[in-house]
Amino acid sequence: MVMLLAIVQKGGVDSLRSPVYTLGAPMKRIVILISGRGSNMEAIVRSCAEQRWAAQVVAVIANRPAAAGLAYAAERGIATAVIDHQVHAERAAFDAELARVIDGFAPDLLVLAGFMRILGADFVQHYAGRMLNIHPSLLPAFPGLHTHQRALAAGCKAVGATVHVVTPELDHGPIVLQSVVPVRPGDDEAALQARVLATEHTIYPLAVRWFIEGKLHVENGLVTQTDGASQVFL
Ligand code: GRF
Repeated sequence: MVMLLAIVQKGGVDSLRSPVYTLGAPMKRIVILISGRGSNMEAIVRSCAEQRWAAQVVAVIANRPAAAGLAYAAERGIATAVIDHQVHAERAAFDAELARVIDGFAPDLLVLAGFMRILGADFVQHYAGRMLNIHPSLLPAFPGLHTHQRALAAGCKAVGATVHVVTPELDHGPIVLQSVVPVRPGDDEAALQARVLATEHTIYPLAVRWFIEGKLHVENGLVTQTDGASQVFL
């Protein structure tokens, strides 16, 4: 009876009617950090549900109270929190409070999705090997801000986005997956931003899924996908 109640509470009555369900499956716990719109977060939440990953987005945390993505998460019953960087003037205090709240959700994976704060080395070390980021450039080119503008100014013929493991150095770390977007005549920053963002919504959920499924092997700073899947999206 106790067991039955546990099932009902976890999966709802519907899971008892379904002929196939798993008891005690090790669901991986994902926490996503955002600063604004949160479209990458949305893509991950949607893929997780639609593709039935053995994972759950357990919390979405923002450093800005006005981050639009918080509403999307809350509407889907995902826990949300705001750790306002303006309240914690010192970086170390902000990082410590952020880590305290994150650790309350016991994540297996921390996903930075448009999180616009630089995180200190102690914070990064604490989540070493379980934190991913997406950056809108073909790293190691153009770390930092204004990537598309800089790529246009440099005459790049292709731009893209990179999902990478987070290391203390900004926008560095082992590269998991990249998308490549050709630059067309007449492209401006907004056009590139839109086309690259569309690819981000494909590559970030895929990279997170690989992580969840234990399919990322890192050796000497180089990441291979253990099924041999392509790590470039064209
Ligand atoms: C994305 O372009 C991401 O690569 C960059 O910030 C943007 C965030 O967009 N780090 P969103 O909040 O996921 O919509």
